[in-house]
Amino acid sequence: MNFEQELNHLSVLVDQYLTKYFDQYDDPFENDILESMRYSLFAGGKRIRPVLSLAVAKLLSGRLDDIMPFAAAIEMIHTYSLIHDDLPSMDNDDYRRGKLTNHKVFGEAMAVLSGDCLLNEAYELLMKTALNAGNKMEHALNTACFIARTAGKSGMISGQVIDIESEGKAVSSETLKQMYRRKTGALLKASVMAPALYLDVSASIMDALNEYADGIGLAFQIKDDILDVESSTEKLGKPAGSDEKNKKTTYVTLFGLENAKKMLNDVIYKAVDAVIPFGEKAWFLKEIAFYIEKRAY
Ligand code: IPE
Ligand code: IPE
Ligand code: MG
Ligand code: MG
Ligand code: MG
Repeated sequence: MNFEQELNHLSVLVDQYLTKYFDQYDDPFENDILESMRYSLFAGGKRIRPVLSLAVAKLLSGRLDDIMPFAAAIEMIHTYSLIHDDLPSMDNDDYRRGKLTNHKVFGEAMAVLSGDCLLNEAYELLMKTALNAGNKMEHALNTACFIARTAGKSGMISGQVIDIESEGKAVSSETLKQMYRRKTGALLKASVMAPALYLDVSASIMDALNEYADGIGLAFQIKDDILDVESSTEKLGKPAGSDEKNKKTTYVTLFGLENAKKMLNDVIYKAVDAVIPFGEKAWFLKEIAFYIEKRAY
């Protein structure tokens, strides 16, 4: 299988799982909230986070089924973060994943609620998974706790807070890096580390994956900044130029476009180097790193 085929294969598995998961709900009193949640969840995201979890699971154990609920929960958390990130009180964007943003279709109140509901759904799924994990219950809970921490006030949310508080202000390179490690890097770290925590792998494997995740996490947001200035709304499926509109400091505004690209390349190679110890088996993780650097949307 080549890279595109494997990427497609794993993202289809994620979509199938999420579709089946939401198919279990049919209470007519829940139709409106479900419609709003489904609208954003199935709008056509790249599924890079759950794909990463499945790719690491494949590398470590070859088994995908155990890890799928964690991967799906992370994608739900990610989707909620996008719905809220687009709200008028945050980035105030009208398009996401090639469609109108959730609040543009369902209104702000429903967008807040469907984001909240995706987050609740994620934790319910994580807890159910732990309850059914038999002798792996402790490892499943440990993994769920890690995901909660990376999504919360020490991870993604703290990054979003720094982002919002920094609008229109001068930001140091150290603060910007912290912001990226948190708002974007944290959930990518959860995606990479979830299978390692669940499978309780050795410290040296944890270290290698941690370093890989650090690299791709920072790289993902630097590339997002570059795409915001270099790409188009049509290609991105979300508004190009959103950062300039919101007076955000980014790697592009702070270091210039060419330097940002060099820094991106540096962190990508650090990530790729980190998985050398896995040998050929890590081919797909290496390719994902290059994909993050080269992606067009
Ligand atoms: C967008 O993430 C938000 C950032 C953290 C930069 P993605 O680029 O993974 O968005 P989707 O899931 O493909 O829509
Ligand atoms: C988003 O950062 C990080 C999140 C946690 C959602 P951005 O605000 O740059 O993401 P996009 O460009 O809107 O996808
Ligand atoms: Mg934002
Ligand atoms: Mg945004
Ligand atoms: Mg952005």
